[in-house]
Amino acid sequence: MDNFTFYSPTCFVFGKDTESSAGSLVRRFGGTKVLIHYGGGSAVRSGLLGRVKASLESEGIPFCELGGVQPNPRSGLVYQGIELCRKEKIDFILAVGGGSVIDSSKAIAAGTVYDGDFWDFYSGKRIEQALPVGTVLTIAAAGSEGSPDSVITLEEGMFKRGASGDAIRPKFSILNPALTQSLPPFQTAAGITDIMAHLYERYLTNTREVEVTDRLIEALLLTMIHEGPRVIADPDNYDARANIMWAGMMAHNNSCGVGRSQDWNSHNIEHELSALYDCAHGAGLAVTMPAVFSYVLEHDVSRFAQAAVRIWGCQMDFAHPEVTAREGIERLRSFLVSIGMPKNFEELGAREEDIPALVHALCWGDGRQGTISGFVTLNEEDCTKIYRSMI
Ligand code: NZQ
Ligand code: ZN
Repeated sequence: MDNFTFYSPTCFVFGKDTESSAGSLVRRFGGTKVLIHYGGGSAVRSGLLGRVKASLESEGIPFCELGGVQPNPRSGLVYQGIELCRKEKIDFILAVGGGSVIDSSKAIAAGTVYDGDFWDFYSGKRIEQALPVGTVLTIAAAGSEGSPDSVITLEEGMFKRGASGDAIRPKFSILNPALTQSLPPFQTAAGITDIMAHLYERYLTNTREVEVTDRLIEALLLTMIHEGPRVIADPDNYDARANIMWAGMMAHNNSCGVGRSQDWNSHNIEHELSALYDCAHGAGLAVTMPAVFSYVLEHDVSRFAQAAVRIWGCQMDFAHPEVTAREGIERLRSFLVSIGMPKNFEELGAREEDIPALVHALCWGDGRQGTISGFVTLNEEDCTKIYRSMI
């Protein structure tokens, strides 16, 4: 196991009706004037936004609002939010929504207290300072409610890139599983896929002797395999929603990624797809994960065979471990299709003729030097083959 520091200071408030504590939590974490940031309207329609505002009012905390965050959040609204925060002297940002809203809030939080262009953080500069952010989560997926990360798309060039820093870890996150009951089935499934991807990207490691995190990841993946179909069949199943919501947080606050190298190539390859086609991140991952895993399988057959046996219950073929390894990847692919995810380029809305542009943006965009690294370092030729295998 590698050396590590684990810092996860977020206060999680979990359960039914917990959004009513938003006002008192903002006060506890020092907010005196709040920007409520939200998405395209689901939080308005469900009445959640009204309840959050009432909670702030009951604490006597003034607020401004900025809605309109799109899935795959854009730089334009971040610039607008930074300007608003400076003008209104905002000292706390409350994100009400999913990963896109939370990531946009984190970008505004970092950009408001920074003299330069906020995009510097998405081009490699670490975030050291930011306004405090709190979240009221409405979809179990990205894990941004407990992560130090934010992913934004630069409209100029449509580059989708991530930024990181402990300063943008939320001060608090309110997780009420009942809020996710209004999700359309496709979004629920995309969220499940993203959570599973966060676990797989950590499972694919070159670090040896990491039994504790291997076992944590396996437990969370088994939970997703059990609860995913239950919630697709019965969207109002609170308990299944609750297990998925907490698994989503645990999958990405890095408690099961410490002390080990990680992959993230399925994510990098997906981010170009959601930047170009504006597809749901989880739907893109359903297509990229099996393709990347199949391509890199020979790098460490026993790791994939271990996943197949321990996660998918496959029988180990000791004479031909690569057969077991491939069976595990096929089981993952079939599972994702069974919950309603796409399986190829066509179903995702991607086009073969765009592959050269996708590869160029992936390997050279925004300061990269021709490769992406992870479990295996991939060059342009590798990435071209991987995209082609998704057709
Ligand atoms: O905008 P509204 O109207 O709220 O609709 C949203 C949106 O259309 C809808 N939705 C959310 N909660 C709902 C709901 N509809 C009905 N009822 C509810 N309760 O769902 C749609 C998707 O929302 P979005 O926030 O985009 O989903 P998600 O949480 O999957 O976030 C995706 C973004 O997170 C990034 C992805 O790249 C993508 O841009 N990621 C962020 C990470 C991080 N910060 O740590 C890590 C991830 O790997 C990921 O890259
Ligand atoms: Zn993800």
